[in-house]
Amino acid sequence: MISFKIGIRLLIAGALLGVFNASETNALNNGVARTPPMGFNTWNWFAVGNMHGPLDETLMKGLGDAMVSTGMRDAGFRYVNLDDAWAAQMRDANGGLVANAGFPHGLKPVADYLHAKGLKLGVYTGIMGSCSGFMPGLNFGNAGGGGDHTAQDADSFVAWGVDFVKVDRCGVYGGFEAIYRSIGAQFHAAVARMLPKVPTANEMVFSLCEWGMESPWQWGDTVGNMWRTTTDITPGFLSALGNMDQNCAYYPYSGIGAWNDPDMLEVGNGMTNTQGRAHFSLWCMMAAPLIVGNDIRNMDDSTKAILTNQEVTAVDQDTLGGVTKLGVIQGRRVISANGNEVWVKQLKDTNNADYAILFFNRSNNSATRISISTAQIASVGGGMAAGKSYYMRDLWGKKDLGAWIAGDSLTTPAPVPPNDVFMVRLSAAAPTGVAVPAVKSTTEPAAVMLDKRLVVITAGRPGPLSADLVDARGALVRSLQANGGNRCVIDARSLSAGVYFVNVRCAGQTVVRRIVLK
Ligand code: GLA
Repeated sequence: MISFKIGIRLLIAGALLGVFNASETNALNNGVARTPPMGFNTWNWFAVGNMHGPLDETLMKGLGDAMVSTGMRDAGFRYVNLDDAWAAQMRDANGGLVANAGFPHGLKPVADYLHAKGLKLGVYTGIMGSCSGFMPGLNFGNAGGGGDHTAQDADSFVAWGVDFVKVDRCGVYGGFEAIYRSIGAQFHAAVARMLPKVPTANEMVFSLCEWGMESPWQWGDTVGNMWRTTTDITPGFLSALGNMDQNCAYYPYSGIGAWNDPDMLEVGNGMTNTQGRAHFSLWCMMAAPLIVGNDIRNMDDSTKAILTNQEVTAVDQDTLGGVTKLGVIQGRRVISANGNEVWVKQLKDTNNADYAILFFNRSNNSATRISISTAQIASVGGGMAAGKSYYMRDLWGKKDLGAWIAGDSLTTPAPVPPNDVFMVRLSAAAPTGVAVPAVKSTTEPAAVMLDKRLVVITAGRPGPLSADLVDARGALVRSLQANGGNRCVIDARSLSAGVYFVNVRCAGQTVVRRIVLK
């Protein structure tokens, strides 16, 4: 039934665009949010302001500064989203939306400030008004007595340099697909209309917030870039799990540029570090937007370590080799029994054959080893098959765990504590030309050493020596000739952490050395 519905939707979208590619969804195709957006939003911690300080220009700039100083920006978090309570309750004489007194110069200086730091500005609005009643809404379709301000507000957002708009539903109880479709079209039209005046005008991420009331996963991919699938998350682990339980069922509907949104993160808000790590991992397995909601100006080191673990966010951001087909990019819960869960997400590699596997001890009871069978992993797709060899990496422990040959099952090497996770990446492709395990020889023709961030290769006999550095998936990273000599050095300072192999060729022999850059 599900696949039938998807088929019909693809057909309609394809027909509208005059093209049809059976393997790809057309999504909204506005060019933004090609991976789940990563950023910050004011709502979870600051709400309407004054709970933890005023919601104003100073705060927004401080949050931008914190995105940089904490390393969040460099870890991929770019959006700084201003939620409810930024706007004045009355429109100006021309019907324009205006910021309140906390933003004496409006929102443009905030956008300029963030842009100068390589960040982006998001704003909140509503179809009829904000949910806290603090601002006039778009008043779409002339409802609410204020006239339809959608096009006017869209022009304002573009003129201010807004990059992301979340549109809430309060006061509206149905007809969301048509309403949001029209709003999205008007946002898109505003960019084209404003370009002559605002050369930097760019498409805005369109975030639908109708709380999953009218199954937005069934139509959201051609309307917006992400759609809330649930009501509001609140601080604490149980709320996060409740949203996850709903959102995970909608995996068939997620695609490139079109994401199921189980709401913003509460890592750091009312949960332990273990729970925060589990919450974050689950969002990454679901390819959910990663919009953090803790006070990033004052977070402790363990919260920061969770949010900036790029090996884990890489699972969220994975593009699966550009395959935009619905139903394959969001990870799935394959096992849920006795308080234990196992999730599988197919990942990009040359053959889209990598996997992320998340073992989650959901219970509050005791630490337990958790297993998944090869067949259960294979049920998610990709090329998993018994006998195939994978490289296994512990993504939270940041440890290489060596080879794993797909057999009957994969079991956690240690018991997983209550509310905690064990998350691995299985990389399928063997490095090119590499015999695994590495050749062992008593007359080693070469030694490979790590001297801080330099890889020093020395042949034990006269050259010529040449060496290739390949990454764990076999892609060539550097190729070096020792110019007839017997020593060469690879500068590894610009390389990211991870497992690499050095293939050394000398005196007719090839030797493979595995190195780990930390
Ligand atoms: C709704 C949304 C929340 C937040 C508040 C603001 O409840 O779902 O995410 O934006 O409104 O009032």
